[in-house]
This record gives sequence, structure tokens and C-alpha cells, in this order.
Amino acid sequence: MEVMIDLRSDTLSQPSAGMRKAMADAVVGDEQKREDPTVIALEERAAELLGQEEAVYLPTATMSNQIALRILSEPGDEVLAEAMAHVFLYELGGPAVHSGLAMKALHTENGIFTAEQVRGAVNPPGDLHASPTRILCVENTHNGGGGRVWPLDHLRTVVAEARRLGLNVHLDGARLMNASVAGGVPAGDYGREFDTVTLCLSKGLGCPLGALIAGSHDRMVKARRMKHLFGGAMRQAGIVAAAGIYALDNNVERLAEDHANARRLAEGLAEAGLPVDLEQVETNFVLVDVARLGLTADEAVARLRAEGVLLSYAARTDVLRAVTHMDVSTEHVELAIELIPRALAATDRPVELAGDAPTPY
Ligand SMILES: Cc1ncc(COP(=O)(O)O)c(C=O)c1O
Repeated sequence: MEVMIDLRSDTLSQPSAGMRKAMADAVVGDEQKREDPTVIALEERAAELLGQEEAVYLPTATMSNQIALRILSEPGDEVLAEAMAHVFLYELGGPAVHSGLAMKALHTENGIFTAEQVRGAVNPPGDLHASPTRILCVENTHNGGGGRVWPLDHLRTVVAEARRLGLNVHLDGARLMNASVAGGVPAGDYGREFDTVTLCLSKGLGCPLGALIAGSHDRMVKARRMKHLFGGAMRQAGIVAAAGIYALDNNVERLAEDHANARRLAEGLAEAGLPVDLEQVETNFVLVDVARLGLTADEAVARLRAEGVLLSYAARTDVLRAVTHMDVSTEHVELAIELIPRALAATDRPVELAGDAPTPY
């Protein structure tokens, strides 16, 4: 069956014609020597957007998160993050490998933890048998939690508690612009709460690659050194940084369309009887709890593929994820509302938990 609709991830978004033209026209120089005017312009723009003094352009958001952890800690320290956070689940143990960190997970339903959880997780200061808890990571939107948005007041309470406990704070804002557009909160209002911030350009913002780390001048001097050490210092990188500037000019407000498409998809699937929690859908992710249809994630993915629809595994076992982005149209969504329930045969299967479902990762 030909794939008609690919809803696996917003990382699949393709650079548009306008973006490609901006890339072709970019003025470039040697980025390692700080001679690429387009990279410098993007970094200045991002620092302002994220409420920080400086920003450093990087190839990926993974590198940004890992550099952040490295410059905020010493080997043997401990980092706290939510159990489904990208930095814990999908970065190959990077905190341990690159920075020698112990990792302690905070468990939640939707990625959003409380100040009490942070307080309860911090090792006693001065205890010679425990690694000093040094960093708290917050992910907004929270990918594993289903694209959830941290309410600004709640986030401020959690960060204030972390600071009171002497922690450094990092924001994995790979999809921070989704959070900003969904909640009507300027990205800088989130960003300035943190020591370091990651922003990814190659997801909903539609760039072929690129991310930024932002923070104070002193921290960004260190980040630039780590960028080189990690092998991320580039040459005529303005050719891709131009896509980033184009994205910030053209692709931010339109994220609201992706959110509306996700909502429409979720409502359509729920009406067709699929186990979709409408409250979860705050941005561009829709989670389908296929275990409640008696299916494993692998079975469900295979059935969907046979109908021409691609979904991906979510962080939780036997939950699938549909993600909207600029290349997913309202027509795709309407078709998906027909095809997904047909593939999963929602109406004629018993709703019960699968017993021995394999973990998808
Ligand atoms: C929340 C979050 N942080 C970081 C990343 C890493 O992004 P990249 O693939 O650019 O390294 C991702 C990728 O999906 C993500 O979802």
C-alpha cells in the first residue's frame, strides 16, 4: 500500500520554496572564525527571542542539550529530568557519556512535574555518599508527555524551588515555539527563567537542520568551546542559518494551524471511538492508546501502514503518536480520520489492556 499520510514526526517537515531561496541567497563566511554574517544574525535574533544574552548556532538540539549539561555541571554531579524527557530517553546516555553525570528521573503522567517532586529528589547537600544534585531539566513542550505545554506560573514555581535548592536549570525548548504559540506566552518569558535554553529549528519550524543554545555571555563562551570540542563548529553554515532566520520570520505564527489540525484529528478519532484523550492535545501531538484496543504498538503500526498511514511510537509502551506539521494539510487530516479508525477497527474490538506488550524502544 502506498503511504498516503505520514504523521510520524514534525522532523519530517521539508524546507519550503521560500526557505530554499533564502538559503540560496545567503551571504556566508567561515563560521568557525566568526566570519559568517548570517550565522551571527541568527544567533543575535535567537538570543533576543529566548530572553538571553547570547546564543550559539548548533547542528542539532541533542548537541545543544548535551552542551548545556556539560557547562552547567562537573563530572560526578546529578541531573534531574522527567522520566520521558528526550535528554534521558533518546540521547543515548549522553549526560553520563559526555558530562559524567548521574541521572535521576521524576515520574509523571504528562511530563509536567511539581516543585515538591524536585525537592524530594535532591540529594542532601554535603552528603559524601551521594552525587551532588546540580541540574534540573525542563522540557517544553514535552514530547513524551504528548506535546504538553508548561503553564508559565507553574514553571516559575518549579524553577524558583530549583534555584532555592541551589540547582542550575536548563530548558529543552526544542519545541518552545509550539508552547509559545499555543499558550500565547512570548518565548522569552519562558527562556529568561533558565540558565540555558535549547531551541530546535528542524521540527515544526521547517528547517533542514539547526538548533540554538542560549544563555549568558560567560556561559556561551563555554558553549562555543564545547561546540568545537563536540565537533559541531562548522564553516559556511550561513547557508543553513539562513533557513533559521526565514523560519523565525515566516513559520512561527503558522504553528497555530498545526495545533488546529491536531485538535481536529483528535476530535475525529475520538468520535470514531478511538482512545484519544482530548485534554492531552495542546499542540501538534495526538496520542492514541492502542493498548486499550487490545493491540500492541507493533501490530497497530503494521495495520496503519497497510491502510497507507504512518504513526510512530510514543514514549509510553503501546501508545502511538500522530504529529502534525506544515506539510500535513487539513485534507490529510480528514483522510486520516477515515483511515486510522478503519485500520485499528476501533468499533469491533474489545477495549481491554494488552497483557504482554513489547516495549517499542
Ligand atoms: C524535546 C526534544 N529535545 C531534543 C530533541 C533532539 O533534536 P535533534 O534531533 O535536533 O537532535 C528532540 C527531537 O525529537 C526533542 O523532541
